[in-house]
This record gives sequence, C-alpha cells and structure tokens, in this order.
Amino acid sequence: MGSPETVIYMDNHATTRLDPRVVEAMLPYFTEIYGNAASTTHVHGWEAKEAVEAARETIAAAIGATAREIYFTSGATESNNLAIRGVAERAPPASQRVVSVRTEHPSVLDPIERLGQRGWETILLPVVQAPDTRAGLVELDQLAAALRAKTTLVSVMLANNEIGAIQPLAEIARIGHEAGALVHTDATQAVGKIPVDVNALDVDLMSFTAHKLYGPKGVGALYVRRRSPPIRIEPLLYGGGHERGLRSGTLNVPGIVGFARAVELSVQQMADESVRLRNLRDQLYRGLLAAVPRLTLNGPALDPPAQRLPGNLNLCFHGVDGETLLLNLKDVVALSAGSACSSANPEPSHVLRALGLSDEAARGSIRFGLGRFNTPEEVDRVVQSIAEAVDRLRTMGG
Ligand SMILES: Cc1ncc(COP(=O)(O)O)c(C=O)c1O
Repeated sequence: MGSPETVIYMDNHATTRLDPRVVEAMLPYFTEIYGNAASTTHVHGWEAKEAVEAARETIAAAIGATAREIYFTSGATESNNLAIRGVAERAPPASQRVVSVRTEHPSVLDPIERLGQRGWETILLPVVQAPDTRAGLVELDQLAAALRAKTTLVSVMLANNEIGAIQPLAEIARIGHEAGALVHTDATQAVGKIPVDVNALDVDLMSFTAHKLYGPKGVGALYVRRRSPPIRIEPLLYGGGHERGLRSGTLNVPGIVGFARAVELSVQQMADESVRLRNLRDQLYRGLLAAVPRLTLNGPALDPPAQRLPGNLNLCFHGVDGETLLLNLKDVVALSAGSACSSANPEPSHVLRALGLSDEAARGSIRFGLGRFNTPEEVDRVVQSIAEAVDRLRTMGG
C-alpha cells in the first residue's frame, strides 16, 4: 500500500503541507513563548501578544488592510459564518435579502440556507455553463438584475475550490455597493496564490485561512472594513471579549505566527510560484490530453490566466467513475473526485452540477490541485498512471 511518504500529493485545494519555514517560525511558540496573549500581568503574556500583533500587521499588509481590520478565527468556515451571520443579525427586517452564487463553498451556502429558513429571501445566481470558455463565472448583468430589490449582503467567492474560477470581484463589489449592499468574499483559495488587495477589490468583508497556503490548520482570519464607512457585525461567540469583542476565545498563538509566516512567504514567492504552477498544470493537461482519449476540461479555459487559479485543473474522464479511478490510483497519487463524499452515498459535486454537467459527467470528474512541492517528474508519473488506469477501467467497463 502507498504511504504518505510515497504517494504524490496533488490535492492542494483540500489542504497543503506546511512549509518547513513556517514550522520553524511556529516552534518557539509551543515551547518557550507559550503565554496567553490575553494575559496582561506578565512577560509570558506580553511576548505572546507581541507575536500576535506582529502577525496581524504582516497579514494586514499583505492584503492592503490595516491591522485593526483583521480578526483571527479558527479558519475560513468560521470566518464565512461570522461574516454572513454577523451581518444578518444586524439587518433591519425590511432588507432581509442576500445574493450569492450556486458554486460557493458549503460554509457560505449553509449559513445562507439557514437565513432562508428564518424568512430571508435568498438568491443563488447561476454561473456561465460548460463548455463556454468562461464556464463557472458569474454574469454581471444577472447580478445587477438580482440587486434591484433592497439587499443586505452580496457574498461571492474570489476563487473556486473545485474549478479554480476567479470571479471579477472588483466589478461585483461595485455593482453590490451601487445597490446599497455589503460585499463579502470568500478568498480562501485566492490569498497567497493571486494578488489580493481589499482596496482594489473594494470588499467589506473577506475570509481566508492558513492551511491552504502552506500554513497550519485551525487558524484563519476575517477582514472587516473599518474605514469609510466602518462595517459593524455581531459576534458568533461570546465570552472573554477577545479580538475587540468580535471573537471570544484564547488565541492560537503558534497558529497565528505560522499563518503570518505562510502569508509572507506566499506573497514573496507569488510571481515565480504562479508561473511555475501554471507550467506544471499545463504540462499535466497536455500530457493527459495526449495520453487519454475522451476527456474534457471542467471550468473556465486555462487562458487567459486571470480567470483560473494557476495550480488548478478539473477534468472529466468520460465513461469512468471518478471514485473508482481514485481507488485505482491510491498508491500513486492523492487527488479528489467530483463528488462530495460527506455521506455514505456520495452526491455529485454541486459546483460541477452548476456548470450544467450531468450526474454521470460530474461523477467521472477529478480535481487536481498542484502546489509548492510538486515537480515536473511527479506530473509525468501521474499522467502515465492515470492513462493506464483509465484504459483499464474503460476496457473492464465496456
Ligand atoms: C473556498 C473555501 N472556503 C472555505 C473553506 C473552509 O476553510 P477552513 O477549512 O479553514 O474552515 C475552504 C476549504 O475547505 C474552501 O476551499
């Protein structure tokens, strides 16, 4: 059986391996500087707080924010919940309306569904259908049409975790603001991969997380605009009043230090890394196209590069079941299939369904997430193994 040391990891949208430089930055905060950042009466607490505030500055600077606009959370799921539910709690009854998109992550869709159960009007916009070269993108005129009625919140992700589609967020924010709505974006898959600046995007709230950018799991952030005009939201957690009252709970100091180091490294390396990942991704796509008959690209075209994450590829292997293919490949490569296997009976991916794919095509789809530690040799091995496995399965099936 394959072991974690030998199986090639190409599931970097699910999570990433920690960069050794991130681990190095975190280690002293487990052993030497272990104080509670909220302890105000001794050096252990002061040093922990100093590290947290330095991390906050680093992370804020990386996205064009100020330190007081960054609130630490346990990850993007919490940040998305805090943004959506925190805004909703303050909305007057006359404007209980939210607009989002069918391809959002469940940590956005589920809180919105809850609002629907509480009487909110919830609009989930469709996306451009496959096989268009812009498949997965939101149509701006549909957004504008959906915003003719008074709306409290627009929530649109910056980059999609399955098909890598990068939404035209600055335009989306402009249309949202013209309609008087607040604009939230889930930028979990984008921060550290493509340039993200809260001023250029002009968003009011933005969620992101450390473990997608070679940082630790269990730590994330919510950007909340504090300038012209400041956004006010309700907390989800009440308690000690940490994070200026918005998010009670003892801060994860080593995690926050690692998060900042990971952001810093990703921003420093972004220009080179995105070219390298795009090349690897294109090598993978070209290799598979040449070696495997009957495959199609899911999501937007790979060109222009600005509409798709550099390390993302999502392919449908027609006539093959994705889960079965992955089981056949389990000793070679770690990937994920076009189904959300959160239950015993895996449902086809809601993102692929939103592109207009049939259940069968969605079930035959595989997501590739290339990352910092992948190499061209690994890509060649994966192409060869997939070609053999698809051929075997198609022969057995037919
Ligand atoms: C787009 C997107 N949003 C939110 C999340 C949730 O992030 P976290 O694991 O930090 O809660 C993920 C990761 O699974 C994601 O890809």
